[in-house]
Amino acid sequence: MGKIVSFLLFLTLPLISIAQQFVPNYDEAKVPTYKLPDPLIFKDGSAVKSKKDWSKRRGEIYHIFEKEVFGVVPEWKGFVRSTLVSLKEDELDGIAKRKEVRLDLINGDRRISVMILIYLPHKSKNAPIFLSYNFDGNHTITTASDVTLPDSWVSNSKEYGITNNKANESGRGEAISRWPLRDIISRGFGVATVYYGDVDPDFNDGFKNGVHRLFDSQRDSTSWGSIAAWAWGLSRVMDYFETDKEINSKRVIVMGHSRLGKAALWAGASDKRFAITISNNSGCGGAAISRRKFGETVGKINSSFPYWFCDNFKKYNNNEDSMPIDQHELIALIAPRPVYVASAAEDLWADPKGEFLSCVNASPVYKRLLMKGFPAKEMPALNKPVFGNISYHIRSGKHDITLYDWQCYMDFAVHYFKFSK
Ligand code: GCU
Repeated sequence: MGKIVSFLLFLTLPLISIAQQFVPNYDEAKVPTYKLPDPLIFKDGSAVKSKKDWSKRRGEIYHIFEKEVFGVVPEWKGFVRSTLVSLKEDELDGIAKRKEVRLDLINGDRRISVMILIYLPHKSKNAPIFLSYNFDGNHTITTASDVTLPDSWVSNSKEYGITNNKANESGRGEAISRWPLRDIISRGFGVATVYYGDVDPDFNDGFKNGVHRLFDSQRDSTSWGSIAAWAWGLSRVMDYFETDKEINSKRVIVMGHSRLGKAALWAGASDKRFAITISNNSGCGGAAISRRKFGETVGKINSSFPYWFCDNFKKYNNNEDSMPIDQHELIALIAPRPVYVASAAEDLWADPKGEFLSCVNASPVYKRLLMKGFPAKEMPALNKPVFGNISYHIRSGKHDITLYDWQCYMDFAVHYFKFSK
């Protein structure tokens, strides 16, 4: 009898696991009906009527995102030391100064090092500067042979979980298509980048590596995950910018692609020193409305990357309607500062329409602050950006960051900063 049961189980288990396999919905007709939480209504049901009301309501929303989505950052008891590691006066045929600055984050005998690679245009003083993580090491954004390789863990062919990989020369320059440095610097912008794995390696190790290990606190269901760690790291770079006389810390544009777009949005929401925030193809847990369950869902992201968010976020696996917030409110948290959301037409996993709808539904907050907000109601045509305090474009092509995306971001920044080189 026992043998028969085992045999039947042997036959049916694979079927059960196939049945449970995640099949993303890419059919607009199958998007469930849903009601979004209203960012302009307090928890007690009263309405946000003034700027002062908004700053109170903003606090409510922010704390929900902290406790239910990204996790709370514990008190930092350590210190950060910065060291200039290299300096080149004339890089990129003389249009930029290049330097590498190492931040050592130290708490007692625990420390990690984070390397910032910085390009500053010679032509403009007080240049606005893009701050954005890279995925595989600072050496991947340039073919220059003397940019330092990261010493921390790097992924291998994006197989997250391989814990002992180190960067090597084979990756040098492999991400240059995502970093059109000459175009950016010629338009008078600076660029600063950090390898995200320096701040927190992207695998599930129980928070024993990266910045988490520099903190003393016990973990619970509200404790921070990797996205909050990456966002926190961006703020430490901002602390450094404030000490560097060559950098205009009032014009820092924090930007990120994909998972790093989620981190950029949370950094922009958490740290008001970032003048502009840009999310490139950030998708689920970033700019896309979770309740649409289009492409990647909350349940899927929490099972693939259980360490990105706090444990409370798992309560909403296949239970999005019970979320006290949705991602349009992450965009709204950035108000009144400008924010740009970008999608790619073939990147259905990230739900372009859901990213667009976040802009539409965050707009009333900007309007309540007497600003223009987001000027579109309908999804714009491909490659036709819409500019407002919230801006948006959907580019043709796949999940990526391209020269076209950068050009739109630079136009947007020029518009807001009204500077010329
Ligand atoms: C995966 C993940 C996304 C993420 C993306 C990336 O596709 O599911 O949520 O944005 O990786 O960071 O490249």
